[in-house]
Amino acid sequence: MRVLVTGGAGFIGSAVIRHLVLEKGYEVLNVDKLTYAGTLSSLKSVEGKPSYRFLKIDICDAAAIASAMSIFRPDRVMHLAAESHVDRSILGARQFVETNILGSFTMLECARAYWQDLPPRDRSRFRFLHVSTDEVYGSLGAKGLFTEATPYDPSSPYSASKAASDHLAKAWARTYGMPVVVSNCSNNYGPYHFPEKLIPLTILNALEGKPLPVYGNGANIRDWLYVEDHARALDLVAERGRVGETYNVGGRNERSNIDVVKRICKILDDLHAIGRPHENLIQFVADRPGHDVRYAIDATKLETELGWRAEESFETGIEKTVRWYLDNEWWWAPLRQGYDGRRLGLLKAGAG
Ligand code: NAD
Ligand code: DAU
Repeated sequence: MRVLVTGGAGFIGSAVIRHLVLEKGYEVLNVDKLTYAGTLSSLKSVEGKPSYRFLKIDICDAAAIASAMSIFRPDRVMHLAAESHVDRSILGARQFVETNILGSFTMLECARAYWQDLPPRDRSRFRFLHVSTDEVYGSLGAKGLFTEATPYDPSSPYSASKAASDHLAKAWARTYGMPVVVSNCSNNYGPYHFPEKLIPLTILNALEGKPLPVYGNGANIRDWLYVEDHARALDLVAERGRVGETYNVGGRNERSNIDVVKRICKILDDLHAIGRPHENLIQFVADRPGHDVRYAIDATKLETELGWRAEESFETGIEKTVRWYLDNEWWWAPLRQGYDGRRLGLLKAGAG
């Protein structure tokens, strides 16, 4: 099995590649532009293996993508490359439109040309997995869950750009008959997570005795999934998902942001004596513009049709994650030098 993964130097893409190479024994080509969020050190465990290759390519570069496909001849494409941070999209939406929409369009068009020329047997086996987010569904109130039938209602430039790319992917299935499958997942956490997102930022700021910024009143809810559970789900959806269908992915682990931050503080109080109680570092700051109140995924389709189950609860996963950051300063220290955790995405300078 040959799998072309885009965005493989990112948080989820690197977990997918580690899973495919080390657990499944697949051949993988990692195509990544290496933006600020792309870190090849996340792939140390597969580096040098003959079944793993890397090409530094922008997914908007059609000629380079077409050439990578014709040389590598993938059985599957797993498309994860994206600009992924909501806060960055608020003040810099252009890059999100370019990579997430035009880049996905380029991937779909190159894959279509490649797929159309395959011999019939390979043509029917080929799959294009478009990896997306639950944020396309917008914000939930206190009750209810996102299902695959929930109407799209994105709030941020990031989620709007992902919604656009989902529509393109589904249109390529309907119009051209391309074997596309789409997945929409909730918030991931775990090792190798770039320290701009809530969980890694909280862990590293707490370790360094810096303020822990909680947006608004901290009551917003996210549905957390350990990244390795997501990687297994993506492999399964690419392998057995029905063409043209969407699969929601989530671990049934809803937590308010303030509960997440307090849990991390408690774990650090046990594992890292300096600076405790770490909760004293919590600071409520100005809210994110357009902040979605609650996300929660109904993963019944993935669970019943494909037999997937999340293996980590939030309790087990978050403890593993905090321990991982304590043990792997070699990975995050260089990233903290490039981005020190300062607030991103505020419309008024100085607020928060
Ligand atoms: P990430 O920001 O950690 O990694 C993105 C990767 O894409 C990086 O390696 C980056 O270098 C690469 N990339 C960016 N622009 C590129 C371009 N133009 N060409 C080639 N490579 C490019 O993101 P992530 O959190 O790993 O998310 C991966 C995918 O999963 C995204 O599509 C995201 O929308 C989706 N997703 C993320 C989450 C989450 O909680 N992180 C949840 C659901 C879905
Ligand atoms: O739901 C899936 C999405 O989850 C993915 O599609 C995105 O790529 C991924 O970044 C993530 O988006 P969020 O915006 O939910 O993640 P983030 O870690 O930025 O924020 C999580 C919550 O914590 C959110 O309610 C905002 C809040 N927050 C975030 C930061 C960075 C804070 O309170 N303080 C912070 O410093």
